[in-house]
Amino acid sequence: MTADNALRIRFERIGCGDAPAREDDEETMSDATTTPMFEIENLHASIEDKEILKGVNLTINKGEVHALMGPNGSGKSTLAYVLAGHPSYEVTEGSIRFNGEDILEMDPDLRARKGIFLAFQYPTVIPGVSMANFLRMAVTSVRNSRAEEAAATGGSAQPITPREFRRLMKEKMALLKMDDSFATRYLNEGFSGGEKKRAEILQMALLEPTVAILDETDSGLDIDALKVVSEGVNALAGPEMGVLLITHYQRLLNHIKPDFVHIMMAGRIVQEGGPELAHELEAKGYETLRADVAAHLQLDAAELLAATS
Ligand SMILES: Nc1ncnc2c1ncn2[C@@H]1O[C@H](COP(=O)(O)OP(=O)(O)OP(=O)(O)O)[C@@H](O)[C@H]1O
Ligand SMILES: [Mg+2]
Repeated sequence: MTADNALRIRFERIGCGDAPAREDDEETMSDATTTPMFEIENLHASIEDKEILKGVNLTINKGEVHALMGPNGSGKSTLAYVLAGHPSYEVTEGSIRFNGEDILEMDPDLRARKGIFLAFQYPTVIPGVSMANFLRMAVTSVRNSRAEEAAATGGSAQPITPREFRRLMKEKMALLKMDDSFATRYLNEGFSGGEKKRAEILQMALLEPTVAILDETDSGLDIDALKVVSEGVNALAGPEMGVLLITHYQRLLNHIKPDFVHIMMAGRIVQEGGPELAHELEAKGYETLRADVAAHLQLDAAELLAATS
């Protein structure tokens, strides 16, 4: 494994196959002070000719925490994959801009190097690769890339030294209350559900992304682990970072306070609000909303279930 393929390997393990060839990007960067950090506009995406995302609009700015909720099968993980560049999904319409730059043609590892991180709903095993080795390669790839970018723009940033990496990994593992023995184990092999989720957040902690998409990181965590992981996320998220938290449950949002809550149904965001929306949802469930959405989309009963279940 090399630093260059460390980031890609995560996607290959979830069955993405080869990432499409990256085209040299000649887009000009817009002024970051006036440009939204992460801007998703009218996003339509399909897999195997089945349209899953049907016009998603979402903007995440620096320092904001957005929660994305919605019934099973509504398209939340699909959105997460499409944002991270999973090559099995085809974007058929719309745009994704990161700091003003169109990222649709970028492969997953370039997106990761630019600062987009996805914690998978179902992290997979990477046999034969120890967690420490994997993380060192992934961090090296991101740091090298940042150092090159800084050099190109006249600044300076250093690639990470092995010693610095060891210190950083120890520090972040302590933050997430992970036993040192995890460092030498093969990534996710034999990890319990909760340990896998913690390992995803450790990756986030080391990669220091600009935007973190956490897909049901709370599922499978026991009550104590939920607290530790949430505290970890809160410690990492700061004014420079945007977070998209995909979750089914309000309880995560008691620990990580969202600024905005979005509800997805049938491949669209159908309702948005503040943290109170998650409480409302917890109390009422999706039924009323489902009926409203179906009426709005002018679907009959059978189509309704198919489109919003
Ligand atoms: N490879 C595929 N082929 C056909 N349909 C697919 C494929 N991948 C995803 N889908 C469908 O896309 C829809 C959205 O799935 P997605 O995983 O995004 O839902 P979700 O909102 O994350 O659900 P959950 O809350 O259960 O995690 C589902 O109906 C799913 O069956
Ligand atoms: Mg999902």
